[in-house]
Amino acid sequence: MSTTTISAISKPRLPGPTIPAWTQSITNLLPWRVDFDSLGFMLKEARQFGNFYAIWVGDKPIYVVSDPQLVREILVERAAEFHKADLVKHAVGSFAGNGLFTNEGDFWRRQRKLAQPAFHHGRIEAYGTIMVQQTQEMIASWQAGEMRDIAHEMTKLTLGIVNKTLFNVDVRAQAEHIGELMTVLLTGANDRINSYNPVWNRFFQQNQRREAAATQELFALIEAIIADHRQHTEDTGDLLSMLMAARDEEGNPMSEQQLRDEIITLFIAGHETTANALAWAFYLVAKHPAVAQRLMDELAPLNGKALAVRDLAALSYSEWVIKEAMRLYPPAGGVTRQPIHDIELAGYAIAKGSTIAISTYVMHHDPKLYVDPERFDPERFSPENEAKLPKYAYLPFGAGPRVCIGNSFAMMEARLILLTVLQHYQLLLAAGQTVRAEQLFTLRPKGGLRMTLKKR
Ligand code: HEM
Repeated sequence: MSTTTISAISKPRLPGPTIPAWTQSITNLLPWRVDFDSLGFMLKEARQFGNFYAIWVGDKPIYVVSDPQLVREILVERAAEFHKADLVKHAVGSFAGNGLFTNEGDFWRRQRKLAQPAFHHGRIEAYGTIMVQQTQEMIASWQAGEMRDIAHEMTKLTLGIVNKTLFNVDVRAQAEHIGELMTVLLTGANDRINSYNPVWNRFFQQNQRREAAATQELFALIEAIIADHRQHTEDTGDLLSMLMAARDEEGNPMSEQQLRDEIITLFIAGHETTANALAWAFYLVAKHPAVAQRLMDELAPLNGKALAVRDLAALSYSEWVIKEAMRLYPPAGGVTRQPIHDIELAGYAIAKGSTIAISTYVMHHDPKLYVDPERFDPERFSPENEAKLPKYAYLPFGAGPRVCIGNSFAMMEARLILLTVLQHYQLLLAAGQTVRAEQLFTLRPKGGLRMTLKKR
């Protein structure tokens, strides 16, 4: 581990835009924060200030990074010198507590080791059957010619899948309502990221009350899932059983609260991002008929047979499509860190506890890293082309020790769902719809994604 302290040679203040301190946020500058294009703002600032700049909120910096070398330094080489940013812990802590996403140090390492077996290759292959089955059940509820909000459909579907695969519980009957709870929670998290201003926060108290109620409901739901598991003493082999059976060195089980934090973390992290990846993939496929055709050509040898995980080896184009969709619309948007002591980064002094935002979105749209970056081109991810991409320039799942634990799960799930839906339906964009990305903690299509179902 290289521990660099601030030296006398540190360069002066990192360039970047300044925002008056009283606003305490970028978005609060705008009345009602309506339609603030935070993604456009980040791209514009990076064009002006480069791949490492600071947004100065008064004299407090938020460091913005989109340089692959620096990403490697922060997330991989010097990972031990950083924690997740307080900004994010503060945003999600009220519901995700001290789960895998926010936990740190030896406790995090232990919890990650406990959860890891549920994500091993052999294990997630078995989840494939559930993924295809639940997708087919969703399709069976669709009618040819009707219009559906595909973002919403994907959220319900992936929520059902993560619960069945990891916790062996079927929540699909409540999926609609859970989706509403999630929106309340993520809006609250987003408000906290964008606003540290107490006056502003008071202004949003109504939402805070809704959020408190939504959190309580979610807690009750998770506690019911745990209680249900306790009733069934046989080991069903799912992740929840594994976490419940785990004992520390003194032979103690995980506390009730830690168990709940882990389940809520997986519950949220395990569906919302994959749903967004899929929504964007359907959107892009609908806009690019040649890509849609190539996917259908690839599917043709199956003759409509239900997909199985073993089929995916011969269906690599679907992997390129999902990867390219996540390049243009990285579901997590970015990754945040803060140094645990004063450090130097690219010659600049960075004080302990400063927020560092790695903007995956900006990096994925950087013309220096991707030729014609706004163009949707799955060929970028053919093995030959992917090998030529600069290392750490593609970051949908993060990198280093805190890399997404569910990355293989998510890739497999996204491909199985995309292809299973395409076997039955062509999804056409509803006319007169302007689709825009909004960063609501995750990168969602603003207002949903209306598509018409055309039967094959
Ligand atoms: C397309 C889908 C997904 C995307 C884009 C995504 C993205 C990410 C990213 C960027 C991180 C790293 C955050 C950081 O370093 O600060 C992360 C962490 C995490 N993800 Fe995912 N994720 C996806 C799917 C999943 C799934 C399916 C699960 C579980 C079933 C999951 C569970 C987690 C957990 C628990 C962490 C925290 C891991 C740790 O810190 O040890 N994610 N995810």
